[in-house]
Order: sequence, then structure tokens, then C-alpha cells
Amino acid sequence: SIETIIAREILDSRGKPTIEAEVHLFNGSIGLAQVPSGASKGTFEAYEMRDGDQSRYHGKGVLKAVKNVEKILTPKLLGVDALNQATIDNIMINLDGSGNKSNVGANAILAVSLAVAKAGAKAIGVPLYRYFGGSFANLLPVPLMNVINGGAHAANNLDFQEFMIVPLGATSFREALRWGVEVFFNLAQVLNEKGLLTGVGDEGGFTPNLESNEIALDLLITAIERAGYKPGKHIALALDVAASEFYKDGQYICGYHTYSPEKFIDYLIKLANQYPIISIEDGLHEEDWINWQYLTAKIGSTMQLVGDDLFVTNSQRLKKGIQKKVGNAILIKLNQIGSLTETLETIDLATYNGFRSLISHRSGETEDTAIADLAVATRSGQIKAGSLCRGERIAKYNRLLRIEHELGERAIYAGTVGMGPK
Ligand code: PGA
Ligand code: ZN
Repeated sequence: SIETIIAREILDSRGKPTIEAEVHLFNGSIGLAQVPSGASKGTFEAYEMRDGDQSRYHGKGVLKAVKNVEKILTPKLLGVDALNQATIDNIMINLDGSGNKSNVGANAILAVSLAVAKAGAKAIGVPLYRYFGGSFANLLPVPLMNVINGGAHAANNLDFQEFMIVPLGATSFREALRWGVEVFFNLAQVLNEKGLLTGVGDEGGFTPNLESNEIALDLLITAIERAGYKPGKHIALALDVAASEFYKDGQYICGYHTYSPEKFIDYLIKLANQYPIISIEDGLHEEDWINWQYLTAKIGSTMQLVGDDLFVTNSQRLKKGIQKKVGNAILIKLNQIGSLTETLETIDLATYNGFRSLISHRSGETEDTAIADLAVATRSGQIKAGSLCRGERIAKYNRLLRIEHELGERAIYAGTVGMGPK
């Protein structure tokens, strides 16, 4: 059971403060967990508590969240059995009492929730993926690698947020990762030749200024071919449009165009037909349910349509989506909902209703690698962990390499069994 909980303010990959928690058990086991932070947040995400004290870190400090762990959460958790994850998460959810964790902060609650799980795994002596998923956890996810960054993650002119490569055709995670890196290196060369800059954005993808989304997709195709792979067969493409970021008064304002929802749907379908795109995330605004329905009816049977800002890892919003036949997959971000138990409930709801789950990082990350274990444990078959550079992204990939190695013959790569994107 829990002996002490320690919380502290640390930095994320953007240099912004975030919270980490250490949970110490009486048997000596310690769990350490760190919380990420988004830039293009969904309106309906759980509340991330920041100090707002402009004299520190431009108001972004998290000392209040740290204090809430110490003063509100810890006193009620001491002595509780760390293996009772759901009980612990419910205690915290009830202590907050707000519905969106705005009293204590989703960042404070998640730090403790994850640290409890890590301490629990240590206590019974199993790796985190087995603690979450049991002895049968063996499915290595297909990585959706975000090699060109735009939108809120970059200072360039691209409105679409993420242009991803998806090494579906590999036979192992290790091979998938190598293919991704080889394409990434080739992409750098192609950009260089065109006199385009190869600086990177928040998730490690390149951030060139480009005249259109099509040019970005063409660059990916060229890089895949130069690396010796076949677009679509070996390596497919995926988009995170993050359309909520450029939606205004019922219109989608993207590049040099202002699209009505109908025209924007046509544009997405045109791209999907023109390129080997297998997954589109947040193709429409987070409250544009009616057009999400049209989009799903039109291409949902052949294309993975992922709700991120739309569903925010929230079972209530996912339920609405299931009822309305909106999307067919959900992005899973622990800090959008703020506890492990609720996250797993949302994944279950998705699975029972034929929705795919993609476990995801945030644009502001830490060296915490729990999402790699979570992806294997939940058999989600897909992970978004960014590009092929920046330590906080690579940490997740390296963790997956380690898990695959540890599983040996038992490891299965999701691409080979059709568990990757549709
Ligand atoms: P965020 O972006 O972490 O900045 O919200 C990630 C995403 O939209 O998938
Ligand atoms: Zn997204």
C-alpha cells in the first residue's frame, strides 16, 4: 500500500513546466510518472491546472497542481493498496468532484494515477505492459510517424497539423522503425535539394513552408520511393488535419481557400483518392457532428477516420459518436481525460463498438514512456509517437524496441495481422 506521494514541477519538451509524481509503497516499490501537454487542445478536454502567476514561467507554472497532490490527494490515498487502480482513481475523481477535474487538475490526478500503476507493476515484478495487459500482451503497434509538422506545432504556413508515414508492410516493429528512419533521412535530403529548411517542429517533423498540402504529400511519396519502398504497399500515409484549428463561422479556412463543409469534405476525399492515405484524424471541427456524419458515410468504410479533439478520450463523447455513426476510430490521450481507469474504460467502449484505438503522445512530451506499454497492453495496434528525432519521441520508440526484444518470438507486429489502420 501507499506510503508517500511526492510531486514536483519539471519541464516538458517545449521547456514548459509540467508535473511529475512519485508514489512510494511500503514494500519499497517506487513509481515515477510524468504528464504531457497539448498545444492544439480539444475544447472538451479535462482541465489542465496552471498557476497563471505571470511572474513565473509566463503563468505556465504548475505549483498549484503540485500542491493539490500534496494537500488534497495524498492524505486520502495513504495506506490504500496500489493494486486497486480503479479504487484509487475513483477516490481522486470524487475528491475533485467537478466532472472535468477543474478543482484538482487533470494533470495532478493523472500524475498520481500513472505513478500508482508503475509502483504497482514494480510491486508484483512485471513490466508495465504486462501489468496493464496480462501475459498475453504481445501486439506491437504500427507507428504513425509525423515527419512533416504544421498547424499549431510549427511556425510554417501549413494548416494541416500532421503528415505521417505508416510502415504497415513491415514484419516487425524494429523493421517498421528502421523504414521510418530511412524515409526521414531521405526526406531531409529532398528538402535540402529544394533549398527548403530542415528545422523541426514540436513533434520532430520537418517544418518547411510549402505552397500546398499536396506538395507535402508529394515530398513524402518521393522520400518513400528514394528509400526503396513502395508507397501504399510498404509505407502508407496518414493525416491529422486538426481542423478545429482553422474552422471559423462554419467555414474551413485552409491555405488560400475558404471551404464550405461540403467542399472541404470533397477536398479530403480528393486527397484520399490521389494519395495512399489510410487514416484521417480530425478531418472536421470538434462540434461539426453533422458533417462528420457525412464524411463517415462517404468514406468511413474504406478509410480510418479518427476523432481526437472530437472525442477527447471521453466515453460520453465517444458514445455520442457511436450513436451518430461518426468516425470509426478514437485517439487515446491519457491527459485528455486525466486517469488511467477512465482511459481504459474509453478504450473498452471503443473496442466493443468496432472502433479502433490509437494510443497517442502529446506535442509537449516528457521522457515518460508509459504510452508504449499501454499500446502493447491494450492491443490497440497503433501508436502516434511523433517523428524520428527528438529524445522525448525516440524514448517511446526505444521502449517499444525493448518490449519487442523482451517478448522475442511471442511479439506480433500489428501490421502483419491487419490490426493497423484500415
Ligand atoms: P496536441 O496535438 O498534443 O498539441 O494536442 C496532438 C494531436 O492533435 O494529435
Ligand atoms: Zn490530433
